[in-house]
Amino acid sequence: MASLPYIKIFSPATVANVSCGFDVLGYCLDSVGDEMIVRKSDHKGIRITKIEGFDLPLETELNVAGVSALALYNDAKPECGFDIEIYKHIKPGSGIGSSSASAAGSVFAINELLERPYNKTELTAFAMKGEALASQSEHADNLAPALFGGFTLVKSVSPLNIIELPSPRDLYTVILHPQIEIKTSESRALLPKEILLSHAITQWSNVGSFVHALHTEDYNLLQESLKDVVVEPFRKALIPHFEDMKTIALNSGALGFGISGSGPSVFALCKGQETAEKVKDGLHQFYSKTQIEFELHLSKINTEGIKIL
Ligand code: HSE
Repeated sequence: MASLPYIKIFSPATVANVSCGFDVLGYCLDSVGDEMIVRKSDHKGIRITKIEGFDLPLETELNVAGVSALALYNDAKPECGFDIEIYKHIKPGSGIGSSSASAAGSVFAINELLERPYNKTELTAFAMKGEALASQSEHADNLAPALFGGFTLVKSVSPLNIIELPSPRDLYTVILHPQIEIKTSESRALLPKEILLSHAITQWSNVGSFVHALHTEDYNLLQESLKDVVVEPFRKALIPHFEDMKTIALNSGALGFGISGSGPSVFALCKGQETAEKVKDGLHQFYSKTQIEFELHLSKINTEGIKIL
């Protein structure tokens, strides 16, 4: 295969935690994401040459896409450099993996241009350097689904071990993004350092049954597993009308409803597109009556992850 001079990619939004799996579970969206163009250059180094959509730093060391690209670049030591253009559609601080899309996108694209010297786990490790810049902690629950697609479980970050999980065919997701910003670092600071043993038991039982439900396409078990007694009680106060939205989504037939990553976006998982449309309509009607601007998305689960355009 002749080496490409440039590549254009779609880097998807992702939902982390998925209620029961704080910092370990995530899934990939199909219809929401950023675009990036990465070009090989005769000039060594990594440059961010253009950012459209949101006001983010062009300095390589201050940009999550730049930091993750540098981590790969310093390891690979190629003879060329790379220029990165970022067309951001995922608002920073939205809770649907905006920084992860940038961090994963740059390393994915450079790896393709170098003819794939690294596997997806190695790419996730480089991207974690960029993600750490945004959230001040090294977690991979948004990066893994962006790079691998579908549902993923981060078994451990050190050593990095990512498990790909199956995606039941009829699963759809609805995302409501209230247009307020919540910084991941602040949302993490709200969480307790220790939790009750009884809560831990509930949570790990739900993670186990959730994984089993994905493997067996057991939607009833999925519904019973999509619960969060550890993180949601602390974070839900940050999200205006969280409980009302949850009631509406569950009454409209959603299997589960929770906070997407560190918020403010919320997600519902639904069996079938028809139910997802009902959930979306219910949330739209309700949130239109609040004074808060919002975006609403309905998406299939993206089993591919980042796509070459
Ligand atoms: N697991 C992370 C959190 C995802 O909830 O803080 C946000 O980046």
